Amino acid sequence: MSREILLNAFHMNCIGHQSHGLWTHPRDTARHYNTLSYWCDLAKTLERGLFDGLFLADVLGVYDVYGNSPDAALRNATQVPVNDPLMLVPAMAMVTEHLGFGVTCTLSYEPPYTFARRMTTLDHLTNGRIGWNIVTGYLNSAAQGMGQQGQESHDRRYEMAEDYMQVVYKLWEGSWEDGAVVEDRSAGIFADPAKVHRVHHDGPFYQLDAMHLCEPSPQRTPLLYQAGASPKGREFAARNAECLFIAATSPEWIKGYVADMRTRAVAAGRRPDDLKIFAICTPVVGATKAEAEAKLADYRCYVRTEGALAQLSGAMGVNLADYDLDTPVSALGNLETDATQTALETLARASGNPYSTIRQMAEFAGIGGRTPIFTGTGADVAEEIISWVDRTGVDGFNLAYAVMPETFEDFVNHVVPELQTRGRYKTAYTPGPLRTKLFGRARLADNHPAAAARTSLKI
Ligand SMILES: Cc1cc2nc3c(=O)[nH]c(=O)nc-3n(C[C@H](O)[C@H](O)[C@H](O)COP(=O)(O)O)c2cc1C
Repeated sequence: MSREILLNAFHMNCIGHQSHGLWTHPRDTARHYNTLSYWCDLAKTLERGLFDGLFLADVLGVYDVYGNSPDAALRNATQVPVNDPLMLVPAMAMVTEHLGFGVTCTLSYEPPYTFARRMTTLDHLTNGRIGWNIVTGYLNSAAQGMGQQGQESHDRRYEMAEDYMQVVYKLWEGSWEDGAVVEDRSAGIFADPAKVHRVHHDGPFYQLDAMHLCEPSPQRTPLLYQAGASPKGREFAARNAECLFIAATSPEWIKGYVADMRTRAVAAGRRPDDLKIFAICTPVVGATKAEAEAKLADYRCYVRTEGALAQLSGAMGVNLADYDLDTPVSALGNLETDATQTALETLARASGNPYSTIRQMAEFAGIGGRTPIFTGTGADVAEEIISWVDRTGVDGFNLAYAVMPETFEDFVNHVVPELQTRGRYKTAYTPGPLRTKLFGRARLADNHPAAAARTSLKI
């Protein structure tokens, strides 16, 4: 039987996530991103559609690569202003029971000791529904905000990430044994000190000598998401990630990536299906194909290419203001940058891209970002999703939006029932934590590197 397809909604705690200029669309409500009701309403819609998760991106720093200035980003609300994503989670958890929350946090600017506590707190408050998208950032402006000259190099950031993971694994998995909380009221003993261990870590980048401050939460380690796609990124992901994201428009490229990552997982001592892999798309749904196409044409009227250029320049680490807009994107293909190397790879070099010049790329990325757009009736979009899953071997999709909350409401109302009719989507949630829903167990698998931390601290 064909597998059920996994779905995340893709958003960010800002006004202009990946649809640049669409905040000016008369039906778009993203401007209310700074209210709890905006997020709680979204969470309820997604849970009605049995979404596995809401995936919240986050990019520390401002997009100031384009024109060497933040002006274009500010004019277009291109991921600025941007609020803290973690703060949204308790409110949304309160109005839902099953929806997972995959939250992006960069590890480059926060010590593992405090970060581990914040994630455990959220795992408690959501009853085991928290995930962490592990990123290292890509904007120099973030490093400057932290008092540094600029960010560390791309590959060195991954080396730091590997060391960081060893620390948080020890805190989450090894510091408190399962039986540490005794909660014996008659004896007046809450925790058994013999079962709470100090973490000693003396790594190349991080040192620590402390116990974790939180008692074990339902999942201990949050569900681990990652999107590395460069050689270093893939190595890191194959060892550490449980869920992977990719942004690419070519099914052939995605198929190759999926095969490569499952092979790398095995080489890292894991099973191929220990990785759940998500492609990305932007659905535009209408009662008829023609209506959906008219909707997309209407959306396109609101795209601001300047906003897209600001975002693309930051992600690629290339100042696109230095180029004539009619320059072929292939001209960017040989540049080496310290931002996201894969952004360059998939935007400039990958075969099957539906654009050839920088202008066309910016116009294309203006709706949903670097994603294919699936346009049609609920049945058309469901068929397209199923076809991509079956052709590429991905486990599911991250859905970007064009207009908030219209994109997600349309999807829940019209695409979800079609996926269900075809037997490719759940009709009810599995009870339990987020990891249980996706992998059938609340805790990380024994073949994951974090498992080593469970015993090493008891010696
Ligand atoms: C769907 C998706 C979402 C991403 N979200 C973020 C994000 O929120 N914050 C961030 O700093 N990087 C984000 N990234 C970038 C990745 O962390 C990573 O840097 C990128 O995929 C390139 O991989 P590489 O660094 O190995 O070249 C995202 C990537 C993808 C594909």
